[in-house]
Amino acid sequence: MDLKGRDFLKLLDFTTEEITYLLDVAADLKEKKQKGIPVDTLRGKNVALIFEKTSTRTRCAFEVAAHDLGLGTTYLDPEGSQIGKKESIADTARVLAGMFEGIEYRGFGQDIVEELAEYSRVPVWNGLTNEFHPTQMLADLLTIREHYGHLSGIRLTYMGDARYNMGNSLMVTCAKMGMHFTACTTRKYFPEEALVKKCREIAEQTGGSITLTEDVGAGTKNTDVIYTDVWVSMGEPDQVWEERIKELSPYQVNRAVMENAGENAVFMHCLPAFHDLKTKIGAQIGERFGITEMEVTDEVFESKQSLVFEEAENRMHTIKAVMYATLC
Ligand code: CP
Ligand code: NVA
Repeated sequence: MDLKGRDFLKLLDFTTEEITYLLDVAADLKEKKQKGIPVDTLRGKNVALIFEKTSTRTRCAFEVAAHDLGLGTTYLDPEGSQIGKKESIADTARVLAGMFEGIEYRGFGQDIVEELAEYSRVPVWNGLTNEFHPTQMLADLLTIREHYGHLSGIRLTYMGDARYNMGNSLMVTCAKMGMHFTACTTRKYFPEEALVKKCREIAEQTGGSITLTEDVGAGTKNTDVIYTDVWVSMGEPDQVWEERIKELSPYQVNRAVMENAGENAVFMHCLPAFHDLKTKIGAQIGERFGITEMEVTDEVFESKQSLVFEEAENRMHTIKAVMYATLC
């Protein structure tokens, strides 16, 4: 398998075999890291990390993974560069490609990262756009594979806003890997029809399936993975909180949902999560709407079924695999 020089923009661009290969590379790099065996074969090369939105996991994962691989990093924050304000994406891509061997981009539209890749002669990696979050997908797959020992046939139910980056990405990922994806949410938050159609066509080839349902009982019954994300994503206006809380509260992941899924089911979340009032925004929203938890209860978040911190650690091993496979 040779992925050298490839961009990593969305999982739709990769075959099941290529995704499996990236997971295998990640598992190998993870084992080596745990055993203290260094893999720093990319010494002397450098990568640019563009973040037009904030981040904890993705930024740290890229920086630590790059450091482990011997790569130098330059972090461009949401304010401190010319990108988008004084310099176009096409010009930025050509400037950065002259200095760096790879470019990570986190920001708004998928069209931006696609344009960056079009004009860059070095690999571009998508660190999250409004539409897709592909590096998160590799971490989630690795976590599920570590837990269940396989991916094919796994049933994953996503609750919440299924039209945005996490819902879209999980649907594509499940289709690619022969998994059964259910979006369990109110109709307004179902993924866009064209993407559903595309994923159903892929799932037909892999043995997976795509289900959209408003029924919490049916959508979460005997599923293997219950997955959720924040109800309001980065870049969305503050005014949407009220309608999201009203419309998505019936799809909160709580004890009843986990009991319906079954005792062997696991809980996953890309994080950050609003499971208590111990954050600035959580406290503000809590006070404004008289609630103490949002997409997931603190009880489920802290339960034995929750894999959220294993998932977060796997961001680093899988991002390392992406850089390693596309640069080596
Ligand atoms: N899951 C995730 O992408 O987290 P950050 O926003 O902290 O990078
Ligand atoms: N949907 C979330 C994912 C964060 C990792 C957002 O875009 O803010």
